[in-house]
Amino acid sequence: MKRTLVLKVDGENPEPEKIRLAANIIREGGLVAFPTETVYGLGADALNPKAVKEIYVAKMRPVDNPIIVHIASREEVYRLAVNVPRSVEKLIETFWPGPLTLVLKASDIVPKVTTGGLDTVAIRMPKHKVALALIRGAERPIAAPSANIAGKPSPTLAEHVIQDLYGRIDAILDAGPTNIGVESTVLDVTCNPPQILRPGGVTLEELKAILGEVSIHPAAIARGEIYIEHAKSPGMKYRHYAPKAEMLVVEGELSSVIKEIKGLAEHYLKAGKKVGILATDESMGEYNLGIVKSMGSRKNLPLVARNLFRLLREFDEEGVDIIIAEGVQQEDLGLAIMNRLRKAAGYNIIRV
Ligand code: TXA
Ligand code: MG
Repeated sequence: MKRTLVLKVDGENPEPEKIRLAANIIREGGLVAFPTETVYGLGADALNPKAVKEIYVAKMRPVDNPIIVHIASREEVYRLAVNVPRSVEKLIETFWPGPLTLVLKASDIVPKVTTGGLDTVAIRMPKHKVALALIRGAERPIAAPSANIAGKPSPTLAEHVIQDLYGRIDAILDAGPTNIGVESTVLDVTCNPPQILRPGGVTLEELKAILGEVSIHPAAIARGEIYIEHAKSPGMKYRHYAPKAEMLVVEGELSSVIKEIKGLAEHYLKAGKKVGILATDESMGEYNLGIVKSMGSRKNLPLVARNLFRLLREFDEEGVDIIIAEGVQQEDLGLAIMNRLRKAAGYNIIRV
């Protein structure tokens, strides 16, 4: 077991001495969890294969699942990638720093363990002062998947990182809750039109406004396991965001969803199960059974996204046996939210 250093950092004005300490750990090949605007990441020197290998070990992540490389200056793109298409400049200008990850043809300097053996590399510039300071301090790109044990909900608080990775990594920078709460959008720009491999913080609508045409990989909007011969994004293949509890998502028109959930909750309670209901502000008052938590208002999807992973972890801590979640609209951030809810539920979806 490692001694994990937990450092509280000011999210707006990160203390230089704390950043220096963490950056030195990265430079020496160690692992540091740090906040980004989406979720906490588990960072290592992206160009040091030995260091990156340790990420897979700490997270118990399948070794064919590539890791996003985080940078703090645009020029880095041209060092890490080759054949960068022109459209990328506009994307970078519009969305960086921010929750957009670009999949590009990798240059020779990117180790194969970072790309999970693929010939492409995923790159993003995060919009969080601590993340940017850490990358600058380390003077190298930082490879970082979400800082959770593989398969668990992504961490939106340093406490979540501590739950999953304490004793397995060198340090955790704690700057409080992350702002967006779901991960970045992964966009493959090696194809035409560009394709969303994972919906996230930058929406399809926003990308279309810049690119015109954008496609979505079928797995990103699937309502069930689909067979993928060659997963473009190996992450698609694996169970994700899963709480310990069993989980169901009920989708459809809200009044019917509420009625269905009430019936299900009663059924499971009678069967002696501890039931959690993942509701919204609009529906919360309708449920008088089980443990009810609201993700926020349906009119405020950013808030729903911010709360989602934390609430899944809270249900687990309270020892809930089954979580019954309401679906939300699929527009805007709703696409990313529904992708996470469906996967978390292992595609146990009820349509009413
Ligand atoms: O917001 C985020 O993206 C967070 C923060 C820490 O930056 N990171 C994150 O990383 O969510 P991770 O490893 O949990 O998810 C990265 C996803 C995986 O589904 C992986 O398969 C995909 O990106 N990916 C990484 N490199 C890829 C590549 N070269 N081609 C296709 N997909 C790739
Ligand atoms: Mg992840």
